[in-house]
Amino acid sequence: MGCGSSKEFPDDEPRTVVVFGATGLLGGAVARALLEDPLRFRVRAVTRRPSSEKARKLAEEGAVIVTANQNDIASLEKALEGADAMFLTTHYWEDKNKEKEIVRGLNAIDAAVHKGLTHIVFNGSENVRKVIGKDCGHLDSKAAIEEYLSEVGVNYTIIRLPFWYENFCTIFRPHKVKHGVYAIPIPMGDVPLDMISVKDVGQCIMNLFYRPRYYSRKTLSFGGDRLTTEQMARVFSKYIYNKKFLHPALRPKDFEAFNFPGSQELAAMFEFYQKSQLVRDVKLTKRLNPEYKTFDKWLDEEAENVENAMKEQDTIV
Ligand SMILES: NC(=O)c1ccc[n+]([C@@H]2O[C@H](COP(=O)([O-])OP(=O)(O)OC[C@H]3O[C@@H](n4cnc5c(N)ncnc54)[C@H](OP(=O)(O)O)[C@@H]3O)[C@@H](O)[C@H]2O)c1
Repeated sequence: MGCGSSKEFPDDEPRTVVVFGATGLLGGAVARALLEDPLRFRVRAVTRRPSSEKARKLAEEGAVIVTANQNDIASLEKALEGADAMFLTTHYWEDKNKEKEIVRGLNAIDAAVHKGLTHIVFNGSENVRKVIGKDCGHLDSKAAIEEYLSEVGVNYTIIRLPFWYENFCTIFRPHKVKHGVYAIPIPMGDVPLDMISVKDVGQCIMNLFYRPRYYSRKTLSFGGDRLTTEQMARVFSKYIYNKKFLHPALRPKDFEAFNFPGSQELAAMFEFYQKSQLVRDVKLTKRLNPEYKTFDKWLDEEAENVENAMKEQDTIV
């Protein structure tokens, strides 16, 4: 059951929510949380590849699959026709081009406004360049889209998300230093990092769709935990006890020097996290999703997946 008062929400007719990125981690979590409540929500899951396994799985779970590309306005208008609300997330990493991500976001917002949608929830960001004076393509793009969204005159809610625990199963998996010894490749020095499980975000966002008026024109953040790399290493040692975990005092500058695709943007992101002294809203997260996980709880459940990821040798650093 959502946290929203039912007054805002007509009980007789489910609202149709178009979910971008539904075949990905974030949009997938949102789509699945909405699908849990079919009396209130119908889910349209957007993909460019309707025959992919991920799209087929979403269809089996009850989503209506719609084919659209954020680069193609006509496809967006078709996907949004007759819908009530939209979860918008945009993507940077395929072409690593800030301007193109901004255009994709603006295309989706324009199409939603044109089609008369009444609520947009957008996965946004602070403007990193304004704080540290360095470009951070994947976050500065989202800040520019936020700005546009706040000016077009539609009901919107902006969410800002921290680092996901799930990154420890992919690009930020503990990196092998020598036999049995692993380093946590997070360049935060001794400054704590806000984190969350992306799966827990889905339920929080579903609750925003329950109360579009209450959350309208608000910028919210979510967080599940806040730890230094030293504290992370302790949690890793607790659940993956046959290995030793180091927390080298990596700095964003060191990260830049690793020079892999995206290293500059990620270094800028961590520098921003260090300097901006942001604190994500764990209290709100808990209110909107009482089942949210601390890092300890998440790793207790996911240790095997992290260990499997650690076996892969092609780590980024
Ligand atoms: N990793 C983190 O710690 C973190 C934290 C906070 C925020 N974020 C941000 O959250 C966002 C979502 O990340 P994610 O990990 O969920 O991404 P993901 O798993 O890589 O999925 C990307 C999704 O975007 C869709 N997509 C890409 N280009 C598209 C286009 N032109 N038109 C329509 N759909 C398009 C893909 O759909 P198809 O391929 O099916 O078409 C897919 O569903 C990203 O912007 C990321 O930067 C990440």
